[in-house]
Amino acid sequence: MNTYDLIMKKRDGLILDKEEITYMVDGFTKGEIPDYQMAAFLMAVYFRGMNDKETTMLTMAMADSGDRLDLSAINGVKVDKHSTGGVGDKTSLIIGPILASLGVPVAKMSGRGLGHTGGTIDKLEGIPGFQTSISEEAFIRQVNETGLAIVGQTANLAPADKKIYALRDVTATVDNISLIAASIMSKKLAAGADAIVLDVKVGSGAFMKTLEDARSLAKTMVAIGTLAGKHTIAVITDMNEPLGNAVGNILEVEEAAECLKGNGEARLMEVSKTLASHMLLASGKAFSVEQAEEQVEQAITSGSAFAKMKEFVTAQGGDSSYLDEPSKFEKAKYKRVITGKSIFLSREESSEWTEAYLASCNNQEIGMASMVLGGGRRTKDSVIDLTVGIRLFKHLGDIIKDTDIVAELYGNDEQKLDEAEKRFIMAYTLSKENNFKNRIVYDVITSD
Ligand code: URA
Repeated sequence: MNTYDLIMKKRDGLILDKEEITYMVDGFTKGEIPDYQMAAFLMAVYFRGMNDKETTMLTMAMADSGDRLDLSAINGVKVDKHSTGGVGDKTSLIIGPILASLGVPVAKMSGRGLGHTGGTIDKLEGIPGFQTSISEEAFIRQVNETGLAIVGQTANLAPADKKIYALRDVTATVDNISLIAASIMSKKLAAGADAIVLDVKVGSGAFMKTLEDARSLAKTMVAIGTLAGKHTIAVITDMNEPLGNAVGNILEVEEAAECLKGNGEARLMEVSKTLASHMLLASGKAFSVEQAEEQVEQAITSGSAFAKMKEFVTAQGGDSSYLDEPSKFEKAKYKRVITGKSIFLSREESSEWTEAYLASCNNQEIGMASMVLGGGRRTKDSVIDLTVGIRLFKHLGDIIKDTDIVAELYGNDEQKLDEAEKRFIMAYTLSKENNFKNRIVYDVITSD
């Protein structure tokens, strides 16, 4: 077997077998296959696709490329959750404490943001003292004692994915269903949970732009998880605008805390509660969606989920007083206010308008505006500014008047604020009529 022949085989649209796929994954992980050959192979997969069997074999080879975490020392059914990535998606920070407060152990390995999407680990590092890298022993002890720990992915968990993802990111081969499914499911299978709830995002801020593609990705991942013996379901949710009112690391931690205090934005709460309810159901602690929804609601209104969030932050070395008093968080130096008028004036057809509806949003551009401010990474090694970001006061379908504040941008550099402001303003389209139709939860995909 040799790499050249396998690239050619996939380039010509032929089906690869288990040995061939494992040869590519192992060879690349060990450094025996160079980047340029793997890049050519990934591009061949991108254009020719992989069938379900090949995608499953790719996932298994990637999951077996490093350690598999053994969570058997944690009592109870361990349920993991993964989002395919989006803008303003802080649901893990909301759901983890809800489930832990209901007695479901959550042992979560999360990622960092890349490109226009954010990552849970960066957000948590906005809390002074919070340790995202703790030993496996401390991780398991904390889950047994407090019910929740969230740490960064260890170096040897699915190392093939780390190397392949870095290459995909610079060779325009990220948005392929087989490659995304294998990337996500290899990490989830190696992370050792008993059940997996996937949040598949769809829309302008997601990798999947259409509902058809999102369904296909969801079905592929559910099939892989089920085949591996894990109870797996996927919820398809909207990413046509940022989720909630905040984009940016510290701003999102503040917002997550507010959600657990009962002050969450409606769409963000609907996604969080839906995912939490399905996780509760998968854990066996609830027997119907209705019962799970009631328990989730109760965890929030009773304050027990917020108390759990503080307990978890303290256990991981963070100063939880910041969650009680968000004004203590470090703030960016400058604030740029975006009014309805600044949006109307930015294009000729609306320059005379005094009110309009926010009709659509290029959400990837909102993520890019936050990245330009310093809140996201251009490359894996970029250092990010945890204080910057965007606070939104209006959502799609809202009417905006010229005097209304639509958003505030926070930054530490005036030039970056200028660029972010331009990107933010141009990300929206306006309409005189309200023809807004986006739902927030589109579908739930189960193995049957
Ligand atoms: N998230 C991942 O972990 N992998 C992908 O390929 C895309 C999103």
